[in-house]
Amino acid sequence: MAGRVEGKVALITGGASGIGRSCAERLAQEGAIVVVTDVQDDKGAQTVADITAAGGKASYLPHDVTGEQPWIDVVAAIKAQHGRLDILVNNAGIGLSGSVLTMPLADFQKQTAVNLDGVFLGVKHSIPLMRENGGGSIINMSSVAGLKGSAILAGYCATKGAVRLFTKSVALECAAAKDGIRVNSVHPGIIETPIWDSIMGTGDVGDNARPPRPAVLDAMTLEGVPLGKKGFPEDIANGVLWLASDESRYVTGAEIVIDGGFSIK
Ligand SMILES: NC(=O)c1ccc[n+]([C@@H]2O[C@H](COP(=O)([O-])OP(=O)(O)OC[C@H]3O[C@@H](n4cnc5c(N)ncnc54)[C@H](O)[C@@H]3O)[C@@H](O)[C@H]2O)c1
Repeated sequence: MAGRVEGKVALITGGASGIGRSCAERLAQEGAIVVVTDVQDDKGAQTVADITAAGGKASYLPHDVTGEQPWIDVVAAIKAQHGRLDILVNNAGIGLSGSVLTMPLADFQKQTAVNLDGVFLGVKHSIPLMRENGGGSIINMSSVAGLKGSAILAGYCATKGAVRLFTKSVALECAAAKDGIRVNSVHPGIIETPIWDSIMGTGDVGDNARPPRPAVLDAMTLEGVPLGKKGFPEDIANGVLWLASDESRYVTGAEIVIDGGFSIK
């Protein structure tokens, strides 16, 4: 039986870890030819080795999403190797917490460069190759932090809120061009991944007294999430798979919230 994204070529940024890694695995399980990119080369290569060992098709490219030339190079490499691009998961991201009164401008700008500039550049450089083959699916990783505010994550929320409306705007541009490209955002809630180590490293949690990450997330979600538990990367990857597949062919400009109800309270 054919997979749900059989033969489609998929680029996943930030695919070395957490949600991106799970998206790469899930898409490969369903027949996609997966290109994993990241700045963590060893972990990216490990993702690819694990996918390949499980019978999937995958390769790794080093790629800092904040630079325009790296995007030009990655898309050119995909065109040379595969001749097409069907799915882009703009997933790479960082999370920096703290008061706006003490956050250095350089940190604010660094976060914006990865979380927002990276998404802009991905869209800009992937659409021409997708158009050559009559369409595609772009999935931009936003967050519940793109739907509601947080006292210690103002800069992060700013980037994720921007990704939400950027996504809808590009969806309209592609629809007007009748290019067959759908563009949607995904909004994870509290998901067990290493990003929380940097988020919890500063701000109101307190570095020294902090228990291990899984215990902190369990406590946070028990109180704040209606379903009473945290999510895992595969919970997000399953939503990404649906958006990547033709099952969502009538969906564009949508925001898919996967958060155990966190954002409805
Ligand atoms: N984990 C959560 O609870 C949660 C919630 C909402 C949204 N998100 C979003 O999901 C996405 C994935 O995060 P995650 O939770 O899997 O975290 P993660 O830290 O496990 O993975 C993020 C990946 O992005 C990569 N990356 C960072 N800077 C990069 C750059 N300049 N160029 C290329 N790659 C870069 C990292 O090396 C890492 O592999 C992010 O956009 C994040 O904001 C996560």
